[in-house]
Amino acid sequence: MQEVNLAIIGVGNVGGGTLTILAENAEQIALKLGFRLKLEVVCDLLVAEKTVPASLGPVRKTTQWREVVSDPYVHIVAELVGGTTVALEIIEAAIANRKSVVTANKELLALHGAELWDKAIAAGINLAMEASVAGGIPIHAVLREGISGDRITALYGILNGTTNYILTEIEKSGASFESVLAEAQRLGYAEADPTADVDGYDARSKLAILAALAFGEKITPSDIFTEGIRRISPVDFQYAHRLGHTIRLICAARQTHEGLVLSVRPALIPQTTILASVQGAYNAVWVRGAYGADTFYYGRGAGPHPTGVAVVSDLMRVAREIRRGSPDRVSPFAHERLGEYKPIPVTLQTRAYYLRFRVQDRPGIIAALAGILAEKHISLEAVLQLPCDAKHDLPFVITVEPTSEQAVREAVARMSTLDFLVEPPLALPMETAL
Ligand SMILES: NC(=O)c1ccc[n+]([C@@H]2O[C@H](COP(=O)([O-])OP(=O)(O)OC[C@H]3O[C@@H](n4cnc5c(N)ncnc54)[C@H](OP(=O)(O)O)[C@@H]3O)[C@@H](O)[C@H]2O)c1
Repeated sequence: MQEVNLAIIGVGNVGGGTLTILAENAEQIALKLGFRLKLEVVCDLLVAEKTVPASLGPVRKTTQWREVVSDPYVHIVAELVGGTTVALEIIEAAIANRKSVVTANKELLALHGAELWDKAIAAGINLAMEASVAGGIPIHAVLREGISGDRITALYGILNGTTNYILTEIEKSGASFESVLAEAQRLGYAEADPTADVDGYDARSKLAILAALAFGEKITPSDIFTEGIRRISPVDFQYAHRLGHTIRLICAARQTHEGLVLSVRPALIPQTTILASVQGAYNAVWVRGAYGADTFYYGRGAGPHPTGVAVVSDLMRVAREIRRGSPDRVSPFAHERLGEYKPIPVTLQTRAYYLRFRVQDRPGIIAALAGILAEKHISLEAVLQLPCDAKHDLPFVITVEPTSEQAVREAVARMSTLDFLVEPPLALPMETAL
């Protein structure tokens, strides 16, 4: 059997998981392919300290990625370094040397995916990126192959395991965001600097990629309204439950008559929806098509092995194409006919909203808030107040009937100036279309 030669650059979590699978599952992989994958070289800054399983045979080790991308024996380069600087140089140099590329790098693809794909197509090589979104869920294959005959109208996802873990722990234990985050950091579920996860930026990169794949539109992270989960407190779950809902960080891309509405934000979702049952560090993607209706995909969002499976499966697919000839490709990031699904501001969307207040109790509060809602032509649906003794910091909730996000934002801005509020109101959309 003639081999296809691989290089792995970056032997961290994902690179390590990839090496383990390539070694432990080598026989199965060769049987499925009909030929062997040969690991030619691994590259890492601390390569001497990295273990390469002995069963992978003699493998060259280097700290110099430039040597790797120009190595004439290497057919496929796996970029598993991460970030948007060196990783971009590595991928561009690999493409320039006509090596196919496999990457897990969501941040880079969300920013530069369209240009990289154009370069890869011009060079006649393949760029595979399954591991970049929801590591354990083969969602790229679903969107690009499995349901590519459909016309997608909406995509909703829970795409960040750390925030889903934190939210479901607050829900279960009633502990505060800060203490659950600290525990998640202790257990290794959250980074020492949790910003990318808890403020929604990691999920935003993933949604940018999935929305591009689903709608064939050029989407950049700045097209996506993004809000993190720092303000979600146990009391929000109590009120959400009272309303028959729960709270998750929802990544949404929805087609409307005006264009595509894109957001990553905490939202109330009905407890009966399948997305509400996604617990802990799991991810899920729910897709609605004009013909095939609803499909749902669920699995581990990250981790060396689930993500390693995605990398190895991409290596296999690309190796197969190298051996059997590459079919013509269209960039998944933007089809020829642009503009059909142009991103539009989230302020144009219409939703019911949950407004949570913390106030110093005194007469006339509801009247003042209701007055502002009426001024903005927003219809109040319900007022909820659970028993609470803390008169100086009293939470309660108002839900409003479907209205434009613009109107809600204007109302919240006006309300924020009221002197009885302990903090600005928290406004969360209530998703019903799931
Ligand atoms: N972790 C996950 O579960 C997961 C899931 C899906 C996607 N991803 C994506 O996968 C990629 C890798 O993530 P990771 O968690 O595996 O990161 P990681 O553990 O930090 O691994 C990155 C590795 O790259 C090495 N490296 C850095 N600069 C290098 C350079 N110039 N030349 C050679 N090697 C270099 C690092 O070496 P040193 O440690 O020696 O500095 C490190 O071993 C990222 O794009 C990430 O977003 C990760």
